Amino acid sequence: MGRKVMSLPDPVAVRPAMLRAVAPPIRLPDPTLDSSSSLERCLRNRRSCRDFRNVPMPLRDASQLLWAAQGITGLGGLRTAPSPGALYAIRPYLIAGNIAGLAPGIYRFDAEGHELLLASTGDFRRQLREAAGGQLCVEQAAFILLLAANYGRVAREYGARAERLVHIEAGHIAQNVCLEAAALGLGVIGLGAFSDAEVKEAINLPMREEPVYLIASGWKF
Ligand SMILES: Cc1cc2nc3c(=O)[nH]c(=O)nc-3n(C[C@H](O)[C@H](O)[C@H](O)COP(=O)(O)O)c2cc1C
Repeated sequence: MGRKVMSLPDPVAVRPAMLRAVAPPIRLPDPTLDSSSSLERCLRNRRSCRDFRNVPMPLRDASQLLWAAQGITGLGGLRTAPSPGALYAIRPYLIAGNIAGLAPGIYRFDAEGHELLLASTGDFRRQLREAAGGQLCVEQAAFILLLAANYGRVAREYGARAERLVHIEAGHIAQNVCLEAAALGLGVIGLGAFSDAEVKEAINLPMREEPVYLIASGWKF
């Protein structure tokens, strides 16, 4: 893959007040902005993967999937995935288990700075697997992206249609991740079968955020 590095906008000066990071931000490797993988090949090759190898994933690959999910690509903070009213009420969390050079833990992805904010240390994959009805791929994945939504923020603008709009946005984000994984040759799967309450408890999500989608990724067999 030819690597062409983007220049990112300066991180926002003021971070959200609810931030519960417990360590300085971790700057992710700059994302690659071009490759020889055609969109059509990625579409053809995209497949849900439920068996992951127990091999560490480079941080660069996790960074690339996070960029595909919510990377900043336009003026004013516009991102890789569309968002109703550009509210960006979906926040990706990285539940890292087996990423080279990154301690297992729960990290919040900060799109503006393309960095991770550590929320909790430890391997939470087993707890997450239990919250997802025991699906083995959750524990085997190198990491899981959790898309968590602040429905209230969207409801203030769009009223009763908020829930529908948030779910459409989550689908856009997840498809970006799936196609990026296909481009990188990584295994990936979107998981919707889980207990909201158990995921919230395992990840200790802020009260106003709800888990919408889990996306597990790792090396495929
Ligand atoms: C919203 C959504 C939720 C899903 N949840 C799960 C899940 O919890 N467990 C699972 O094994 N697969 C899940 N899948 C994957 C589907 O089973 C899979 O996409 C389908 O079988 C088609 O296979 P393909 O993705 O390889 O084309 C989900 C897919 C979507 C779109």
